[in-house]
Amino acid sequence: MALPEPTPEARAHSNRVAEHIRGEIAASGGWISFARYMELALYAPGLGYYSAGARKLGKAGDFVTAPEISPLYGLTLARQVKQALEAGFEDVLEVGAGSGALAATLLEELERAGNVPRNYLILELSADLRERSRDTLAATVPHLLERVAWLNRLPPVFSGVVLGNEVLDAMPAHVVRVQGEKLEEGGVGVRNDRLGWSWRLASGGPLAAARTLKLPEGYRTEIQLAAQGFIRSLSGVLEKGVAFFVDYGFPQKEYYHPQRKDGTLMCHYRHHAHADPFFLPGLQDITSHVDFSAIAGAAHEGGLEVAGYASQAQFLVNCGITEVMSRTPAEDGAKFLPLANQADRLMSPAEMGELFKVIAFARGFSRPLLGFGEGDRRSAL
Ligand SMILES: C[S@@+](CC[C@H](N)C(=O)[O-])C[C@H]1O[C@@H](n2cnc3c(N)ncnc32)[C@H](O)[C@@H]1O
Repeated sequence: MALPEPTPEARAHSNRVAEHIRGEIAASGGWISFARYMELALYAPGLGYYSAGARKLGKAGDFVTAPEISPLYGLTLARQVKQALEAGFEDVLEVGAGSGALAATLLEELERAGNVPRNYLILELSADLRERSRDTLAATVPHLLERVAWLNRLPPVFSGVVLGNEVLDAMPAHVVRVQGEKLEEGGVGVRNDRLGWSWRLASGGPLAAARTLKLPEGYRTEIQLAAQGFIRSLSGVLEKGVAFFVDYGFPQKEYYHPQRKDGTLMCHYRHHAHADPFFLPGLQDITSHVDFSAIAGAAHEGGLEVAGYASQAQFLVNCGITEVMSRTPAEDGAKFLPLANQADRLMSPAEMGELFKVIAFARGFSRPLLGFGEGDRRSAL
């Protein structure tokens, strides 16, 4: 597939990112793990895809996420957040808020519903996106801006509602493969000045995790130790409350299916999805699907209860997306038809409805959650 040509400036930026990564590989004796490569390509300060100025999200960027597709998503999620806040919480913490689109819709809608959070904290690694989300909120909810604070690490303690949309898939993944008797870890080396795969015997965390999966010969896959670590850290911080993460992925039984014998790494460049993580480093997104069983396991280890797991479509239906849509009269075709189209993208099994899942974790929160009233698939984890 021919991918669009970058501008000369963008290519020069990517060359600088690659140079930086080659420097780290040389300093590390010729090899870095794929997870480290992904971390540098996405988050190296001032260079990485998320840390530098690339447009990233939305039509003019490389991919669109649910909050960018439609306000329906945030308006519907707001009903779940409202229910959780009504259990006696005041604060929301959004992890990886990107452009701030979801925060803006949620704050507007929660205000309308009489449940505006006391504090809306945004934990965002990317300085560029912290700025972008600040601009979005200044333009949409200027009167609520004083309630919003940006963090670059988890607070020491938190009580309230935690949200993360498409953030776990963006955390660095390790790669492993089975070669005969051996379990190998995929890393990155340099040959003829070019970055490329370099395999060595797996050890440490990736080896331990891969062993438990009992993968067949020839199988190659990702292991999200960083995402699991993040959930463990969150469990150390969440004193009381409920956390929702939405992402594409599967429970373990489906994730490590023979069909996915080459793994789930996916790169996004100007709305083209492909599987080459070494294409224009710094200019493209790199992701892996989420192993929700491993994420649930990490939460469990941290003492959190898994409070729900459902497809995105089921979750949105349970939260009342149809009622949200009914606020726009169907006779008003100019407004209703685009909404119906957006709802289809969020809900259709051929689009995001089935591949995307919502998982919830709770501590000290025993009410049944609105979004999992029907079709809770926790038993599949
Ligand atoms: C695919 S984008 C999704 C953005 C937004 N939630 C949306 O749905 O449009 C991933 C976001 O997660 C952020 N991110 C990745 N790892 C993070 C971490 N450990 N802590 C906070 N933010 C993180 C990225 O900088 C980026 O904003």
